[in-house]
Amino acid sequence: LNYLTPKKRAEILELLVNGLKRLEYRGYDSAGVAVDAADDKDIAIIKRAGKVALLEAEIKNRSNELSMSNTIETHCGIAHTRWATHGVPNEVNCHPLRSDPHNGFVLVHNGIITNYKEIKAFLQKKGYKFESETDTEVIVKLIHHFYLQHPSYSFRELVESVVQQLEGAYALCFKSKFFPGECVGTRRGSPLLVGIKTATRLATDHVPILYGKEHRPYGRGDYPTLPRTGSTSEFEPLEDKQVEYFFASDASAIIEHTNRVIYFEDDDVAAVKNGSLSIHRIRRGGDDPHKREITTLKMELQQIMKGNYDFFMQKEIFEQPESVINTMRGRVNFETGSVTLGGIKDYIPEIKRCRRLMLIGCGTSYHSAIATRQLLEELTELPVMVELASDFLDRTTPVFRDDVCFFISQSGETADTLMALRYCKQRGALIVGITNTVGSSICRESHCGVHINAGPEIGVASTKAYTSQFISLVMFALVMSEDRLSQRTRREKIIDGLRTLQEQIRQVLKLDDKVKVLAEDLYKKKSLLIMGRGYNFATCLEGALKVKELTYMHSEGIMAGELKHGPLALVDESMPVMMIIMRDPVYVKCMNALQQVTAREGKPIIICEEGDKETMSYANKSLEIPKTVDCLQGILTVIPMQLLSFHIAVLKGCNVDCPRNLAKSVTVE
Ligand code: G6P
Repeated sequence: LNYLTPKKRAEILELLVNGLKRLEYRGYDSAGVAVDAADDKDIAIIKRAGKVALLEAEIKNRSNELSMSNTIETHCGIAHTRWATHGVPNEVNCHPLRSDPHNGFVLVHNGIITNYKEIKAFLQKKGYKFESETDTEVIVKLIHHFYLQHPSYSFRELVESVVQQLEGAYALCFKSKFFPGECVGTRRGSPLLVGIKTATRLATDHVPILYGKEHRPYGRGDYPTLPRTGSTSEFEPLEDKQVEYFFASDASAIIEHTNRVIYFEDDDVAAVKNGSLSIHRIRRGGDDPHKREITTLKMELQQIMKGNYDFFMQKEIFEQPESVINTMRGRVNFETGSVTLGGIKDYIPEIKRCRRLMLIGCGTSYHSAIATRQLLEELTELPVMVELASDFLDRTTPVFRDDVCFFISQSGETADTLMALRYCKQRGALIVGITNTVGSSICRESHCGVHINAGPEIGVASTKAYTSQFISLVMFALVMSEDRLSQRTRREKIIDGLRTLQEQIRQVLKLDDKVKVLAEDLYKKKSLLIMGRGYNFATCLEGALKVKELTYMHSEGIMAGELKHGPLALVDESMPVMMIIMRDPVYVKCMNALQQVTAREGKPIIICEEGDKETMSYANKSLEIPKTVDCLQGILTVIPMQLLSFHIAVLKGCNVDCPRNLAKSVTVE
């Protein structure tokens, strides 16, 4: 952030720490801040391993040293909460990292630098001593090196020189005691935005881009004297004198200050100086715009607060009756039975002509593809491939111009998914994004797409985004089959199912107490097998993922058809087993599997249809779920699994919203 009117240091620190708390779901191994120090000639860095609350306590402890009660005013601070890629999460590896013991430059970084070893070797030869095991430290030391070589460069020019040497993914924010009150941010591959807060209404809806001169890129490991990048004018001020800027990885960190933001594109370098924001790019591509639009976010502060719930995940599970409606709002017309997806409408004729559909994602998003694949095959009559983004890239899968590739991602920033998107785009496929984050990289790099509109999801374990992704893909299948007479009855049934979904989700949520009792039986067990097939197989995978990530208990989603090919060997009277058995086309086969389990003295907990006494008679315990059309049943069967993993996590004392070792938005490959 940066103020034309300076703030007291205590205020800046409070602001930064609050921002970190809102971003803590992205990383929580360690946290740190850098602000101008008491003597105003130095920068103070405060860091702590662990959660932001520990950093907050440390800041309080050191308040005297930071002279927080005095009137010293300051312009700019940076802060970071980390999810470790290189180096264990401890204080030394925590950001901000510094260029030298005198804190000449300080830096926070989200992402991963792949060529850091070469840069490190170069800098070590120049005499730089490295303190941390991070890849980030090379960046902040390299800018220091360039600064010494080119004392006349502006802060922004120095950052531009540095990023030309980096490979990998990054969002960076720099601060320097040599450039007091200034801040420079840039990105490639990792998200970065700037929030703009003004006292009066902003006089502009965009910030122009300044382009530098094209110049020869340098060889790797070769850092000669750099030419200045140059620009038409040094600064293009935003026409408002009372302005505050907030650089952040995502909007939840800043939404309480402003809803006016600019999403940066890869290689934008944004500098704040004297209360002005300028955006600079070195090269001008063919159809690059001249400006970055300032967008107004619809996100509300209360959406990213816990409200009456103890945990974000719990709130998000219970939000599902509303979030599913928000996904369908303005799209499904229950009166006429028609479905419109504004974001892909114009591309439907092209999609209908394609040779196949590919659905690509990671984690829970991948499961939403598995959940809807069968319906997509049925209603589009096209071959549908479902792929994990990482594996898809490992295989260098053949992709063609007449393929339509869907990239499903809650955050819209998952590195593997984004890489797969770029891979497919390069091969000429049509790119469709299915995301929950407006302005995210996947959104911006897709040709067209669907915003799932589930609202911000803060809990690391995805819940409401899953059901909304599911519905978005169902709506797409409905759009594709709109003019198929043979599918009319089927479509009507599905639309009818969508109409009653909200009420049925409410009913499922009423099982909460019953699920809690089940959790009490299960939380001390070592393992949980979850079996099903057909439309409910995805629930098994997703349920097992929830149990694993939240409770650290082993869990496996098992395709019931594969039972006799291995997993049956695990079953005995003590192995906890859950089975999902609905009265759908695979009911008889599921009953077969059930008998195989009970014959080995397994005592399954069964999720079945309301009132299905026959199925329940085989169960040790059961959960009854309202019946809906077969292809939507997975939306209802997954909710007890979300609740179960939540309750087991609480009973085990696990951190529900931030499970160990995991991050919400995985912006590294
Ligand atoms: C991480 C999160 C998961 C999520 C996955 C994919 O692993 O912890 O909850 O399902 O990333 O994220 P995306 O944002 O692409 O849906």
